[in-house]
Amino acid sequence: NNKYHERKDAMYKINTDAARFFFANLRNNTEAKEYFMRRGINQSTINRFGLGFSKNDWKTLLIHLRKKGYNDKAIIDAGLAIKSEKGTVYDRFRNRVMFPVFDYKGKVIGFGGRVLDDSKPKYLNSPETLVFNKGTNLYGLNFAVKNGMAERYFIMVEGYMDCISLHQYGITNAVASLGTALTENQAKLMKRYADKVIISYDADLAGQKATLRGLDILRKSGFDVRVLTVPQGKDPDEFIRSNGREAFLKLIDNAVSLIDYKLGKAKKGIDFHNNEMIIRYGERVTEILADLNPVEKDVYIKKISEETGLREQSIYDMISDKITRNTESIE
Ligand code: CTP
Ligand code: MN
Ligand code: MN
Ligand code: MN
Ligand code: MN
Repeated sequence: NNKYHERKDAMYKINTDAARFFFANLRNNTEAKEYFMRRGINQSTINRFGLGFSKNDWKTLLIHLRKKGYNDKAIIDAGLAIKSEKGTVYDRFRNRVMFPVFDYKGKVIGFGGRVLDDSKPKYLNSPETLVFNKGTNLYGLNFAVKNGMAERYFIMVEGYMDCISLHQYGITNAVASLGTALTENQAKLMKRYADKVIISYDADLAGQKATLRGLDILRKSGFDVRVLTVPQGKDPDEFIRSNGREAFLKLIDNAVSLIDYKLGKAKKGIDFHNNEMIIRYGERVTEILADLNPVEKDVYIKKISEETGLREQSIYDMISDKITRNTESIE
């Protein structure tokens, strides 16, 4: 166990040295500096998030770390270098702007690296290591916590740039799940600091699917969950950069509950002058409302009755029919 902790500490140390190296590289690389500038990232954000650059070369980090006394095995185990089948060792991250990933205490556990153009893969991340596991960590959590979490809720975004951008605009309770699959472990980690989460994923299809999955996981973990919808197919970073802080704060105010989010999705494309569509909407709505308590049902059924012209009693009947059918199928 002592050995295990020593090995972990060694890995934080090598990652920290790598982060310093990437950070220093950025200073000397105009193209990378311009990349961040073009994306509206200022110097103080670069410093706070420790952003950097990996050179367009095969061994610069490797040579640097060897000089500092690390052996190749340690460098490879940390995910910073790769050994080819022929036995050649080379840097994993090349010609990318670099995002160190911190754990909730602020230790460097891994990296994400982004290309400066449209080539693929857009992001390259550290592999799973002794200290890096995407699913048990949240990007930005260390900064959110350090800033006091005065708002008592998190804003959950998808990407590095979403998180960094929101922080730069003073929205310091943003954290990123890095990709789209929120896990129970990430939920547990957040639960230490807040009981409410506003999901603010990308407005694309992948983001919508991830929102539904994330909603379920967060609800099971006991969070009050709301959904913020970024308009016009954008992500939070693009939105706040073109519309500003106040506009984003408005989106936060307009974030909706799980039920309203699901009802909103069910309503998409429904023409209330078309009978078949109203019937289909009625069926979708039945699914969504079945789990609610009686008071919640009253509230929503009244609203739906008004917009569709369906009698409230018919919607109640649909729901109890559905519940009866489900119970029968269990027996
Ligand atoms: N991601 C990844 N590998 C990829 C693509 C995405 O790990 N090949 C993760 C990254 O953490 C990324 C997040 O998923 O930040 C969201 O992906 P996406 O929306 O495609 O990227 P953005 O964060 O919007 O990237 P950018 O704004 O830099 O284009
Ligand atoms: Mn709590
Ligand atoms: Mn996306
Ligand atoms: Mn983006
Ligand atoms: Mn995005």
